[in-house]
Amino acid sequence: MCGIVGYIGKEQAAPIILDGLAKLEYRGYDSAGMAIAGEDHQINYKKAVGRLKVLEELTHGGETMPGTAGIGHTRWATHGAPSDVNSHPHFNKEKTIAVVHNGIIENYIYLRDYLMKKGYEFISQTDTEVLAHMLDYYYKGNPLEAITKVMHRVEGSYALGVLFADQPDQLFAVRKDSPLIVGQNEDGCFIASDVPAILKYTRKVYFVENQEVVRLREDHMHFYTIDEEEIHKEPTLIDWDANAAEKCGYEHFMLKEMYEQPKAIKETLMPQNNPRIRGDEITIEELDMTDDELRAIKKLHIVACGSAYHAGVTGKYVIEGLARVSVEVDLASEFRYRNPILEEGSMVIVISQSGETADTLAALRESKARGFKVLGIVNVVGSSIAREADKVMYTWAGPEIAVATTKAYSAQLIALYLLAMKLARVNNTVTKEEYQKLLCDIKLLPDQVELLLNNKNHIQKFANRYIGAKDVFFIGRGIDYAISLEGSLKLKEISYIHSEAYAAGELKHGTISLIEDKTLVAAVSTQEALYQKTISNMVELKARGAFVLAVTNEDNKAIEKEADYVIYIPKTNAYFTNSLAIIPLQLFSYYVSLGKGCDVDKPRNLAKSVTVE
Ligand code: F6R
Repeated sequence: MCGIVGYIGKEQAAPIILDGLAKLEYRGYDSAGMAIAGEDHQINYKKAVGRLKVLEELTHGGETMPGTAGIGHTRWATHGAPSDVNSHPHFNKEKTIAVVHNGIIENYIYLRDYLMKKGYEFISQTDTEVLAHMLDYYYKGNPLEAITKVMHRVEGSYALGVLFADQPDQLFAVRKDSPLIVGQNEDGCFIASDVPAILKYTRKVYFVENQEVVRLREDHMHFYTIDEEEIHKEPTLIDWDANAAEKCGYEHFMLKEMYEQPKAIKETLMPQNNPRIRGDEITIEELDMTDDELRAIKKLHIVACGSAYHAGVTGKYVIEGLARVSVEVDLASEFRYRNPILEEGSMVIVISQSGETADTLAALRESKARGFKVLGIVNVVGSSIAREADKVMYTWAGPEIAVATTKAYSAQLIALYLLAMKLARVNNTVTKEEYQKLLCDIKLLPDQVELLLNNKNHIQKFANRYIGAKDVFFIGRGIDYAISLEGSLKLKEISYIHSEAYAAGELKHGTISLIEDKTLVAAVSTQEALYQKTISNMVELKARGAFVLAVTNEDNKAIEKEADYVIYIPKTNAYFTNSLAIIPLQLFSYYVSLGKGCDVDKPRNLAKSVTVE
């Protein structure tokens, strides 16, 4: 979704804002804009359709917009097409109040009509413009009063940066249901939608809560409630490496993040200062549950979106298989409206990289409102889901910038494996030997992932043959179906090639009619007990002209007779194969996208963190 950055301090604001927006461009990239408090109580602004670089060029890297206070925005359009007029900042008529916004104002039509009756004119199709005019309507020289009055009238979600021309020594940050942080260093104060935007400048951040307002000045910040009461907040020190938000020589963030997977897995298994494997025991301290309490879990509901949902589908197979606890997996956007049956003894697990996905957050709130405990498996420390969940198990993948997730997904799998093993241990559903084997195999995963990544050249060659593909199918059974779901999503989202994932046995119930001569089908076959079944499906497909790429275990040489091309993964526990089989599929998608000349890190129409429904 949209990204917001603001700065007030001793330095020039525009270059800092542009730099921060570049780190947030993954949140939206169809247009960008900036407003800087200028001399003589004027606000200077520039907006540009297209990527941030258009705005950078227009302002010579910010040089043409001098001033030490300002706000900026990179947009992912919701209301109104990407255009100069719809880009942020938005203004009141006199251009004395500038607003940047992430979120959706749900009652904007009502408010717009109300303001139009009062003589206000609207020039854009956005919901945001209503905020600028409403602020104007209420502004009588006291910004805090005007902002809180507006907050009382608007419905929906918003993270705002606000600048008043006649108050150039202060900036305002406002939040309800859209992510927002503020930070401080010795030279100034910052506003940002997400930590990476300001990581280069400060690690001292404050999480703005719902319906709070922050007044930022050069050397201090004050926090207020919607009723203008001042509140005290403690800062959080972020220990992410600033390089995590830089490409560090890689051509794309996605490639860098794929290469960070061994580290993400290691850190999620053994977080610094708090390892989750201690000797023979799995310790998930964050759960804060006794073995008896864990044993009392009768059912788990895993709720998530996109790739996080796919991790959840794998989690279902692993948890049910190992711990014999029943698991239901839901898409968050469905869960919240289907009146789910949550019975006594159920626990809800929400999975989210960003911790800000609107549907997942809503599912969490729905579950809590019904009195159920929610465990969040979350990557972004201090995000909304992390703060609102009853318990948080962090995936320590570090900041993920590429829109297509790779390392966070891999870390989510690890968190779910650990949970499955812990439950299996307390429920006594695996033998001592099986448990030891699981421990041994899970620890080998980082090196095995590394090995697969280092074998990328032949996948690149293979991928280059498919840059012209029209349709690709991914099939598998059991856990292999879950891998197929993720493999297919990776390919379509970054290469724009239509692809579908099917449970291998299901294809012949309709979809097989789409198979034409040379259609690529990736058959994932890592479950020994199902090798033969998947081979039968491959044979059916080949008979209809498909070209079959098999992804399988290194000992399954028999598959070579039926497959046209085989990618082997090292031997691991049957429950952990997803962590390995996904690597060549990620690489395949990456190289197809690269070969087609697509924007790998910022695929069209997408945004990293989906904070609207
Ligand atoms: C795909 C992808 C998305 C996210 C989904 C959920 O590569 O990244 O499908 O997985 O939008 O996002 P989070 O995990 O932030 O809740």
